[in-house]
Amino acid sequence: MKKVIVAIDGPAAAGKSTVAKAVAKKLGYTYIDTGAMYRAFTSYVLDKGVDPENEAECVKLIPEVSIELKPDGKVICSGKDVTRVIREPLVSGNVSYIASYKDIRLALVELQRKMAEKVSVVMDGRDIGTYVLPNADVKIFQIASVEERAKRRYIENQEKGIPCTYEDIVADVEKRDRIDSSRAFAPLKPAEDSIKLDTSNLTIEESVQAVLDIIKEKVGE
Ligand code: CDP
Repeated sequence: MKKVIVAIDGPAAAGKSTVAKAVAKKLGYTYIDTGAMYRAFTSYVLDKGVDPENEAECVKLIPEVSIELKPDGKVICSGKDVTRVIREPLVSGNVSYIASYKDIRLALVELQRKMAEKVSVVMDGRDIGTYVLPNADVKIFQIASVEERAKRRYIENQEKGIPCTYEDIVADVEKRDRIDSSRAFAPLKPAEDSIKLDTSNLTIEESVQAVLDIIKEKVGE
């Protein structure tokens, strides 16, 4: 079987992980949530009492941080299960600072590339098609309106029991998009050869099908 790389990038809470996970399951590929890795690093920084806006102090932690994405979706950071805490507002509100530090990105990107070396993957993030895996077979840039994205994340948080208001989510999504798009190194932007997928008016099932159709057309899977 041919090794296939699918890159799904896009702004915060665009539904990338839901779609990427379902597509990976359907095709028997490995799903890699790169956002969870930046979130895990952020939870480690917060645990250590380091200021997430202090780049030099955050970068010093790189040698102590190990991140594992388990096949069952669990995220382990330096031996601790952080699966739940990385979705909380404190981590969401600080992750874009951590993700703007070049040395931290280089360390995590090295891991991400290793994960995609031997198996077919669906990897989602911000810079997968532009920087992490520029030779990906399929590149999708998944978007949706801010209102729709905030609504989806609000419902998701409610289901997971993570306390938040709709207004907080709108502010978080807008803040992260601003920082993620304007950072100097590997910012959020569509790869020139990416296919734009606006899911504002699509259900999850329709979004998954749209991605499967694109993959089929590109690689015949
Ligand atoms: O799920 P959601 O869209 O809210 O975000 P995520 O994919 O979990 O990513 C969390 C944050 O990590 C983003 O806002 C970015 O700051 C950062 N990130 C990144 O810089 N590069 C990636 N490849 C993935 C995430």
